[in-house]
Amino acid sequence: MNPLWSSADFIAAIAPSEQPGLIEDVEGISIDSRTVQPGDAFFAIKGERFDGHAFARAALGAGASVVVLETAQRKEFPDLSERVVFVEDVLEALERLGQAARERMSGKVIAITGSVGKTSTKDALWAALKPSGKVHAAVSSFNNHWGVPVTLARMPQDTDFGIFEVGMNHPGEIRRLIGMVRPDLAMITTIVAAHIGNFATIDEIAAAKAEIFEGVVPGGAVLFNGDIPFSSFLDEKARGQGIDCRFRFGTAADADVRCVSLKMSPEGSDLDLSLFGRSLSCHIGAPGEHLAMNALAVLGAVELVGGSAEAGCQALSGHGASKGRGKRHELSVGDGSFLLVDESYNANPSSVAAALQALGLMGTVRRKIAVLGDMLELGEDSAALHEGLIDPLMKANIDLVYLCGPEMAHLLEKVPIAMRGTYAKASADLIAPLADDICAGDVVMVKGSLGSKMGPVVTALLDRFEGRTGS
Ligand SMILES: Nc1ncnc2c1ncn2[C@@H]1O[C@H](COP(=O)(O)OP(=O)(O)O)[C@@H](O)[C@H]1O
Ligand SMILES: [Mg+2]
Repeated sequence: MNPLWSSADFIAAIAPSEQPGLIEDVEGISIDSRTVQPGDAFFAIKGERFDGHAFARAALGAGASVVVLETAQRKEFPDLSERVVFVEDVLEALERLGQAARERMSGKVIAITGSVGKTSTKDALWAALKPSGKVHAAVSSFNNHWGVPVTLARMPQDTDFGIFEVGMNHPGEIRRLIGMVRPDLAMITTIVAAHIGNFATIDEIAAAKAEIFEGVVPGGAVLFNGDIPFSSFLDEKARGQGIDCRFRFGTAADADVRCVSLKMSPEGSDLDLSLFGRSLSCHIGAPGEHLAMNALAVLGAVELVGGSAEAGCQALSGHGASKGRGKRHELSVGDGSFLLVDESYNANPSSVAAALQALGLMGTVRRKIAVLGDMLELGEDSAALHEGLIDPLMKANIDLVYLCGPEMAHLLEKVPIAMRGTYAKASADLIAPLADDICAGDVVMVKGSLGSKMGPVVTALLDRFEGRTGS
């Protein structure tokens, strides 16, 4: 089998600042010495807290075929002459390798951005394209200034479909990343007030997301959400980039990928859609309207990059929700069991509403319990946006609400006394009262921003109660 990078191609792409030591072929790309596999190239990236140079020797010890280090730190490594490459700037060297990976590849490249749903859409698209060819996709949420070049550099030359998640916290970030990805198809899942922290208005967020169109290759296409107030704005932006193939997914009558009917159940959804005028029916193996909307985008994308939408439909019926994004666990309690829905990875007003709606769909269960931690980075509207969750809570007929964090105190005031479980400042203090309260027949949905530490609540419940099945 061909290596990911022959040593010659690797060196040519990296363009070292001095003659490299003897290196072998490269089988993988790593920036974390703890997970280095034999044959990996290790790039000593400087992060906010750590400088990868401190771990270069550990990476070599773990079998890295080469470590890429900064020339300025050369004197720290007098003993290293082989399996080392010195460059002026390690991140830029990684970017050059990523760009070389893009240039040598002749398959189709898809880039996904949006305020929520990037990773869920990326994972579903991966599943839906798999029957149609060799797919390469970002690991978890690798979507930032190092995640995107790492994902590019890891892309095998014979990839048929490369799927990239592109995120941002400030204007200009997507522009820079998309110049490396150069997608054949750029997608926008949705635009809502998420990470508004660095932005004054949601309009600024929309403009920053639209930067994704700037990297689309000549003759390429865009596919975006036609149900949001920004859809005309996005269309204009794409047109301004000279992109003729502009398509929308959603429920509007003129959507190119249109939801004709949607039947939701606790186990999943049945979606009838019109795919560029063709009728298709698709069962989605994970519940929630939001995942059905993502599926529209996914099937549109499969069609636009030349995959089989029929095979994609089949794949989606067996594709569950991703970890932290709706993954379900059936756990034993008393003489029965309860269902734990892990939504702990992320939270903003739109995704919490979506998760509550999905919880509301759970047929006859004993109690529907929502366990919510703060939605972070919402800027000055934060209190109002937390309070506003009372609407989806009431609409979904949630029985009991456990809340934690200073921002959720605003929601607590709105929650009727009879619906209140425990409130705590920190998520750790919710675990004991919640675990003691859970009974057979309950459904417990745990959600919050990553920084609100709701993941440990899920882990604690998984530790305390024995699993029956996971999905
Ligand atoms: N289209 C959508 N609308 C609202 N919420 C969504 C959508 N897609 C996924 N979600 C939910 O939002 C949260 C974040 O999803 P994720 O796919 O990780 O988004 P991102 O990668 O954009 O941060 C999860 O709880 C997920 O279930
Ligand atoms: Mg993500």
